[in-house]
Amino acid sequence: MIILGIESTAHTFGASVFDGKNILSNEKKAYTTMSGGMIPAKVADHHVEHGAEIMSLALKKAGMTFEDIDVIAYSASPGIGHMLRIGAVFARTLSLKLNKPLIPVNHCIAHLEIGRFLSGFDDPLLLYASGANTQVIAYESGRYRVFGETLDIGIGNFLDSVGRTMKLGFPAGPKIEKLALESTNYIELPYNVKGMDVSFGGLLTNVKNKLNQGYKLEDLCFSIQETVFAMLVEVCERAIAHTGKKQVVLGGGVGCNKRLKEMLKKMCDERGIDFYSPENEFLVDNAAMIAVAGHYSLETIEVAKSYIDPYLRTDEVEIKYRN
Ligand code: ATP
Ligand code: FE2
Repeated sequence: MIILGIESTAHTFGASVFDGKNILSNEKKAYTTMSGGMIPAKVADHHVEHGAEIMSLALKKAGMTFEDIDVIAYSASPGIGHMLRIGAVFARTLSLKLNKPLIPVNHCIAHLEIGRFLSGFDDPLLLYASGANTQVIAYESGRYRVFGETLDIGIGNFLDSVGRTMKLGFPAGPKIEKLALESTNYIELPYNVKGMDVSFGGLLTNVKNKLNQGYKLEDLCFSIQETVFAMLVEVCERAIAHTGKKQVVLGGGVGCNKRLKEMLKKMCDERGIDFYSPENEFLVDNAAMIAVAGHYSLETIEVAKSYIDPYLRTDEVEIKYRN
């Protein structure tokens, strides 16, 4: 079965061809800026402009044409409405034109499923650290449950906000990582873990104030990373202790950060459990994960009933394929 995956929940438009065993292509184009954040209407225009070309490229790289597709999986939730709508329109149009079924996919679950697929782990816990989301997710009784999460903004949005104040452009995560390598001078910052959850809002205000007080960017970037990644690793470790899971996978764009991978791996090694981080192209938003998750679910939907849902939560989706 040939599945075309379409991703468009945020800044990235992606298309991927998956044959049920191999990811044959994984193409994407991401909206970026030199300074300032992303404006949803502009990102939607970007996806309209590049969507068809990305899908054609994905098919070409897979050595296929549109007629070879059996099913179309699209990211239906959660995400920013402006952008979700564009991917859904491409998916519905193809479904009608090719007379092939549609599968709606939850983007957060897809981040977990691509890790599960690539690692070969059967039942991992996912640390999902991306722009809009920060969650610790694992399977339990028919659903992917959220064992811990951010109480305010996602870790990537936090890093991007810090970066915007530092005039680093978007996305700022990689630039903060680079600056952090230039320092080992830790500046005390608020560490906000509340039970299984984390919070970044207070830290953001604190860092913004420090930026006006003459602290070196390198020192701040180093200290920010050490603080927020320790918070994530702590809630992840607590969730492992609670669930008894023996495998951890990483997902989300912030997972590209080498220091986060290093800290997470160390914690897993100390507990004697397995850790796997996908290659960066599968950590950031990508369509291969939508195709893979669609292949696991195979729950098709008619075009007339197809939907987007910007706010659907991970644990609201019933998982029928893991019983
Ligand atoms: P989602 O929709 O899954 O919540 P997202 O759409 O924002 O997330 P991702 O591609 O998963 O997208 O992640 C993007 C985020 O990852 C941005 O906030 C970016 O700054 C951050 N990021 C990318 N590379 C790094 C890095 N090396 N270190 C830290 N953060 C990074
Ligand atoms: Fe994502």
